[in-house]
Amino acid sequence: MKAVKIGSPASVDSLQVVDIDDPGEPRAGQLRVRIHASSLNFHDYGVVSGVLPAEAGRIPMADGAGVVEAVGEGVDEFKVGDHVVSCFFPFWENGPPPIGDFKTTPGDGVDGYAREVVVLPSHYFTHAPRGYSHAEAATLTTAGLTAWRALVVDGQLKAGATVLVLGTGGVSVFGLQLARAMGATVIATSSSDAKLEKLRALGAAHTINYRDNPEWGKEVRSLTGGRGVDHVIEVGGPGTLPQSITACRIGGHIALIGVLTGRAGPVPTAALMARQQRLQGLIVGSRQDQREMVRALEATGIKPVIDSTFELARLADAFRHEASGAHFGKICVSI
Ligand SMILES: NC(=O)c1ccc[n+]([C@@H]2O[C@H](COP(=O)([O-])OP(=O)(O)OC[C@H]3O[C@@H](n4cnc5c(N)ncnc54)[C@H](OP(=O)(O)O)[C@@H]3O)[C@@H](O)[C@H]2O)c1
Repeated sequence: MKAVKIGSPASVDSLQVVDIDDPGEPRAGQLRVRIHASSLNFHDYGVVSGVLPAEAGRIPMADGAGVVEAVGEGVDEFKVGDHVVSCFFPFWENGPPPIGDFKTTPGDGVDGYAREVVVLPSHYFTHAPRGYSHAEAATLTTAGLTAWRALVVDGQLKAGATVLVLGTGGVSVFGLQLARAMGATVIATSSSDAKLEKLRALGAAHTINYRDNPEWGKEVRSLTGGRGVDHVIEVGGPGTLPQSITACRIGGHIALIGVLTGRAGPVPTAALMARQQRLQGLIVGSRQDQREMVRALEATGIKPVIDSTFELARLADAFRHEASGAHFGKICVSI
């Protein structure tokens, strides 16, 4: 069967399609899953480009969705034919986070889903939402669950709240959709006016071009009558956090998620303190969070925004497309 592996030294150009052995039948507690789709995240780009060190020959991709082909003894949660989606942290069942690294994350510390069939313990998966295509389901493992955790688990989002999302990548667009479905008002930013129009079509009440207006934090504040937003989905990191602190209300919540502008930098700590904001770092979420998100997606009917889909053999082109920044929402892979 086909898989994609990272060459040595790791780079997007080093990705190669290889033949690997079929993993066979599941043992007790395991599932055999035919993977039909994956989706790209900034994290996966870090792994395939060598920024995040992974073992030579690693099979990349944290996101995987497909169909259960066989069930090992003692597995009650799944049956043959079920549509499933992979978990970013297969060993984090529920409760507070027990883990702060990527050692157990498929596509990073262990092999991921750029392959046709896997045999893994059943806790590597949850059910996919009913009515979702495999590509749609594959967007949930990383981007979907991160936005869910930021707004719902950590943020305790309430109808009527105002949410700020930055840029038009997978996490931010999903955050916009979730926030709208839950009765929140959304302010969204992008570097592209064409993308701002798409954000408005998805229900953003206000949009700001962050290239044209580097002081977008002040504009967000004034759009909210001087109060500031209740929640920020902070995917930028050091280059955007000072503006996010300006944009957020006194006592508001900033979910610190991303590193799009770098991995460290100065933070106006006095402003954060004076505005009594909660800055919460987070990495994705637990299996239980994923189950609850799946239930919410079935109830609300939200469908992820898919920018484009590439065949597995063109995974490198998919990453080049991600690196170009031209996408809006998720880039998927069909397997
Ligand atoms: N902590 C976690 O659990 C977690 C989970 C998932 C992702 N992340 C992180 O979150 C970030 C986004 O991930 P993703 O997968 O959604 O990425 P992505 O799909 O590749 O998003 C890229 C988009 O981000 C926007 N962007 C880039 N620089 C920006 C800036 N200075 N200000 C505002 N927006 C900017 C651009 O939007 P425009 O083209 O519209 O300008 C760009 O198209 C990454 O740093 C990733 O590592 C963290």
